[in-house]
Amino acid sequence: MINAVERKIEQYIAELDDAYVSSLYRKLPQGKRLRTKLILKIAGSDLKVIKTAATVEMIHAASLLHDDVIDDADTRRGSVSVNASEGNKTAIMMGDILYSKAFFELTSISPEVAKVVSNAVVQLSLGELADVELSRKFHTNREAYLKMLYQKTASLMEASSEAAAILVGKPRIAYRQYGRNLGMAFQMIDDILDITVDSQTLGKPALHDFVEGKVTLPYMYLYEKLESSEQQKLAGLHRKRLNKEDEQWIKMKMAEHKIVEKSYTEAKVLITEAIALMESLGEKDLSNIAKAMIERGF
Ligand code: IPE
Ligand code: IPE
Ligand code: MG
Ligand code: MG
Ligand code: MG
Repeated sequence: MINAVERKIEQYIAELDDAYVSSLYRKLPQGKRLRTKLILKIAGSDLKVIKTAATVEMIHAASLLHDDVIDDADTRRGSVSVNASEGNKTAIMMGDILYSKAFFELTSISPEVAKVVSNAVVQLSLGELADVELSRKFHTNREAYLKMLYQKTASLMEASSEAAAILVGKPRIAYRQYGRNLGMAFQMIDDILDITVDSQTLGKPALHDFVEGKVTLPYMYLYEKLESSEQQKLAGLHRKRLNKEDEQWIKMKMAEHKIVEKSYTEAKVLITEAIALMESLGEKDLSNIAKAMIERGF
């Protein structure tokens, strides 16, 4: 059924009737299609469900095109990113085209689905903006970080689950909560993997967040544990290009204070809640998606 979603996206792109856009889209490597998997598991494979998944994947792809411009990232999904190969202007416009075509198609699915998904894109954009703002200075504002995390990543997963539930008349609040927890945990793990995994495996730059100014949960936890001269050292490395020695120091201190474990524990709380919610609704496959998330290596 994922194939039906791919074909729907290809159809939407073909309708744009632009050879350059088609060639750019063909060159984009496919991602894990996580949001599609969620939607199909919740709602089956009716045409409206396929269309919803297609619009969500186009929105997600658009957000990554813009995100790589924002984050100065030169790789994505194991390949050179569009901003790196074609330039920022092309990446931004390609993102705009995917966003707008998705919005256009959403209106023919259902007003309720269109409302839920388009609101998530507002949140996502506010989240990306907040991420940039928060990255200007070193900070340990956990509340602001969690809000931003919800907006930039969890909102689209929340909307995917809720939209799918709406399409088949399942209790939308429960599925919304599930998607939200999954999304929060997903981004927390993404932030951990930036530290623990190499770029080859990730398919995108590794140990890149702190250099870009992103003070993610592990860095906040680490800061709390360090003594004051070390705190100064860590804050001094913020937004700096890290040499091998700095990288090793950060990783060593993270290991010493069991920061990765601590951060995983926080993601696990959300996953456990999501699992319990789905088990109470008899949704075994969805609870398995949540279980797999905490175990993912990239
Ligand atoms: C990447 O999302 C962006 C984040 C929200 C961390 P995915 O990891 O789902 O991206 P793809 O589609 O599989 O590449
Ligand atoms: C999530 O943040 C990106 C979006 C929600 C678009 P990141 O900047 O951490 O995502 P990656 O690591 O580049 O995939
Ligand atoms: Mg990024
Ligand atoms: Mg980003
Ligand atoms: Mg990341």
